[in-house]
Amino acid sequence: MHRAVVLGTGSCLPERVLTNNDLEQMVKTSDEWITSRTGIRTRRIAGSDEQNYQLASRAAVMALESAGISGAELDLIIVATMTPHMIMPSCACFVQAEIGAEKAFAFDLNAACSGYLYGFDLADKYIASRPEMKILLIGSETLSARVNWEDRNTCILFGDGAGACVIGGSDERGILDSNLFSDGKLWKLLYMDSPASRNPDLLDPDRKGCFIQMSGRDVFKYAVRAMEDAVSGLLDRQQVSMDDVSLFIPHQANIRILGKLMERVGVAQEKVFINVDKYGNTSAASIPIALDEANRQGRLQKGDLILFCSFGGGFTWGSMLMHW
Ligand code: ACO
Repeated sequence: MHRAVVLGTGSCLPERVLTNNDLEQMVKTSDEWITSRTGIRTRRIAGSDEQNYQLASRAAVMALESAGISGAELDLIIVATMTPHMIMPSCACFVQAEIGAEKAFAFDLNAACSGYLYGFDLADKYIASRPEMKILLIGSETLSARVNWEDRNTCILFGDGAGACVIGGSDERGILDSNLFSDGKLWKLLYMDSPASRNPDLLDPDRKGCFIQMSGRDVFKYAVRAMEDAVSGLLDRQQVSMDDVSLFIPHQANIRILGKLMERVGVAQEKVFINVDKYGNTSAASIPIALDEANRQGRLQKGDLILFCSFGGGFTWGSMLMHW
């Protein structure tokens, strides 16, 4: 059976860097508080020519170059995002037009921070039925537009960016298995409301409904437990141990969540890819940005077993194993 294999990677981060010292001028916080609680030192903030689809398209062009194919050869474009440029058309359709992927069909997928792993799983299913397909899978977010810059509980955590992979079929390597979950009952612990059809008042004067709302401590607790279960369940099912894993690329939420997770699943820090200090939490973009950086740093060798995991609003979470 053919599996989805990554043929090339790319990423694009906005130019503007927002430091913890900058945040000290905006809300009552300190570099020391943010660094010790989250491990985040800087995050990137999109400018006016760095709209979601533009970041996504720039990451896509890099991924296409790295895969050695053109946009015209793509069959499908999926953009995982919860901050699309518009509700309609999809961000994926904007990307299609930007990169000249004329024969591709295109759509967005929203599973919050887990969007990229859901997208990988979907791509794997397409490849199983049509192994010759070339799929562009992007994770792209402009969360800075959806953060309340007066709320110190949330504004310190998030950043903007995009990452992309070109995916093809292989009968030797690729996605081995994935373990995905959702629990809609817990939505109130992490959500972002309007503009959406449930709230007809798109002119909400104080834009309160537009912002990310979060119960930080609860999210922390659920995230650690859920990702631990998703990882251990997957390793058990595939009869592999952490020793067999060459690199662990978790969703970059914050360093304390990652620290607890590493402890619980028993993985050494040198096997874990971490860049949350530079970019903060970029939601669906965090895994593909990390994957692209790991790839460009030469940390991925053909045949290596790579482990991914994520957790986000919904709640949604999961894990995935891939032979690189
Ligand atoms: N600067 C200074 N003080 C702050 C700040 C800030 N930026 N934010 C909150 N505080 C204060 C609070 O007001 C509170 O003060 P009080 O005791 O006087 O009321 C105090 O610090 C402690 O607040 P807590 O919320 O209990 O702080 P906690 O240690 O739990 O850390 C944090 C907060 C960092 C948000 C933590 O709960 C966390 O990491 N949660 C996970 C959230 C997350 O990662 N969400 C992303 C989406 S989901 C995902 O990607 C996994």
